[in-house]
Amino acid sequence: MYPPHTGRLSYGGDYSPEQWPAEVWREDVALMRDAGVTMVTVGVFSWAWLEPAPGEYEFGWLDEVMDLLASGGIAVDLATATASPPPWFSRAHPETLPVDRDGRVLTYGSRQAYCPSSPVYREAAVTLARRLAERYREHPALAMWHVNNEYGCHVTRCYCDTSAAAFREWLRDRYKDIEELNAAWGTAFWSQRYTEWAQVLPPRATPSFANPAQELDFHRFSSDALLALYTAERDVLRELTPDVPVTTNFMAGMLDEVDYWRWASEVDVVSTDHYLSANNPDNWLGLAYSADLTRSLAGGEWLLMEHSTGAVNWQPRNAPKQRDEMIRNSLSHVARGSQGAMFFQWRASRAGAEKWHSAMVPHAGTDSVIWRDVVRLGGYLDRLSPVLGSAVEAPVAILHDYHSTWAEAHAAQPSDDMVPPAEIARWHAALVRLGITADFAHPDATLDRYRAVLVPSLYLIGDAAAANLAAYAAGGGTVLIGPFSGIVDEQDRVRLGGYPGAFRDLLGVRVDEFFPLLKDETVALDNGATGQVWSERARAAGATVVASYAAGPLAGAPALTRNGNAWYLGTRLIDGDLRELLGSVLAEAGVSAPVADPPPGLEVVRRTGFLFLINHAPQAADVPVAGTDLLTGDRHARARVPGGGVLVLRLDV
Ligand code: GAL
Repeated sequence: MYPPHTGRLSYGGDYSPEQWPAEVWREDVALMRDAGVTMVTVGVFSWAWLEPAPGEYEFGWLDEVMDLLASGGIAVDLATATASPPPWFSRAHPETLPVDRDGRVLTYGSRQAYCPSSPVYREAAVTLARRLAERYREHPALAMWHVNNEYGCHVTRCYCDTSAAAFREWLRDRYKDIEELNAAWGTAFWSQRYTEWAQVLPPRATPSFANPAQELDFHRFSSDALLALYTAERDVLRELTPDVPVTTNFMAGMLDEVDYWRWASEVDVVSTDHYLSANNPDNWLGLAYSADLTRSLAGGEWLLMEHSTGAVNWQPRNAPKQRDEMIRNSLSHVARGSQGAMFFQWRASRAGAEKWHSAMVPHAGTDSVIWRDVVRLGGYLDRLSPVLGSAVEAPVAILHDYHSTWAEAHAAQPSDDMVPPAEIARWHAALVRLGITADFAHPDATLDRYRAVLVPSLYLIGDAAAANLAAYAAGGGTVLIGPFSGIVDEQDRVRLGGYPGAFRDLLGVRVDEFFPLLKDETVALDNGATGQVWSERARAAGATVVASYAAGPLAGAPALTRNGNAWYLGTRLIDGDLRELLGSVLAEAGVSAPVADPPPGLEVVRRTGFLFLINHAPQAADVPVAGTDLLTGDRHARARVPGGGVLVLRLDV
């Protein structure tokens, strides 16, 4: 846990005082105190105000803001302000502007217009971080460093010449010899053989499909290039302020383009941002996915750095939140391990591209529903302090690997409808509806503590990770693997001899041909279930057939098999059937939900000693559990959660 919050959940948001006159800053601090705010993130986009001309710094305004916050008892998560270089910088160094796949230079005037591999940008960013650390290292308000902002949002990959040179360096380091690269990329195909490093490029726009392994390595390189930017700033901060934790806000579950498993070990506090898809009554499931993924990346405690009090400004129709939805969202993040609930942003902007984005202080001011809810939420978070330190109980793991997702994203695959993050989220959602909390796990992770491991979609897997899963199953763990998993090695080369190559022996199944289904086509199974999207011709090679296709070209062929405790599903079941299968496989594995068969829309999360009951449905939910609600102090012999309401029960022992 990070220093200023000992004993309290964090509450606050991004604070941009540079958008307001100084009188408003005083009012801000007073209002923050009224709302129970504990921490604000200052300066995320302040570079132009901190360094208005090269090497000329203006810290006076920030000194005043930091002092005001300190005197109000508000901690500061101080941004290094490097997310958006000012116009003077981009004009002086046009070579730092990012270039897209089609060769278009993206100019300044919005935000985050820099090439991740630019040494010029990097030096300027590190210098600014150093100046800030030198100035505020002793400041009492400084609680945490917030490096840059959402690395990879907007510009994940840059295709300019500087990036091309850096990509070649990265490849040389990985392959040493150009012939090793040729072998790894399979360049015997389409006359792509490279004879000199200088010929190797990022996968810029080409007449037809790019080389899949080249694209995969460019994804890897690009994630590493961003990470190197982060660690360059972090190292300076650690040197000057070794006791101040450093974070950068992830977009877990929203951005799949950077490998957060690698990033997580480089931050002191894993933090993430999450925004709902408005107009989707099931959007709470996406929130649960992001929160569970972030907890898993962190290996425990984490911090929700941004979410919204109401509408965002970047969806086609920006719906407000429904009554109490902000409260439910915040408490759901806390249920799933967040150490608080932070927002973008404190005060709604008057001008600029985000002026229609909601905030803690809306345009209407304090005489508003949002403000009253913000104050109410502050009170709730205060009352939830006892949950700090209790662990989220997750008996199941879902394997998750960004590299596999990147590889499968190549344009020339058997079916465009196989989208790994969506399928992983669908399996996770089925568990949430069953009231079962899952962790996500990288395929290399130690899996022993889980009763079952689910593999919804893992196209690419290395030998060591495949052996890891096999050892887990051999040790008695239950495994359920979905289709088109274990297909290629780490360089996207097909594992020969029958699919799913990496898992063939574990599953006792051999597949010789894929039969992807047409859009909206379904296929019946002989156990009454329905498959969609995918089917394949499998035969049992040691496994027991549990269900077969009942019709179509694969009639009679296995669709669901088990080889002891290793299950294989060769199609994608529709939601209800998937939920049923997961429920029965997990029940056999000894996994039980804290509330059996929760009513639809009731989110149930158990932390040691506490039960969060979050009702996303309009009607009340009755739950046969006894405890005392931390939010109201009421004791329940049998919990009744009002429609749209939340109970956080301290369980009777
Ligand atoms: C985030 C970003 C914030 C703000 C917010 C709006 O992606 O970090 O600065 O733009 O989105 O929803």
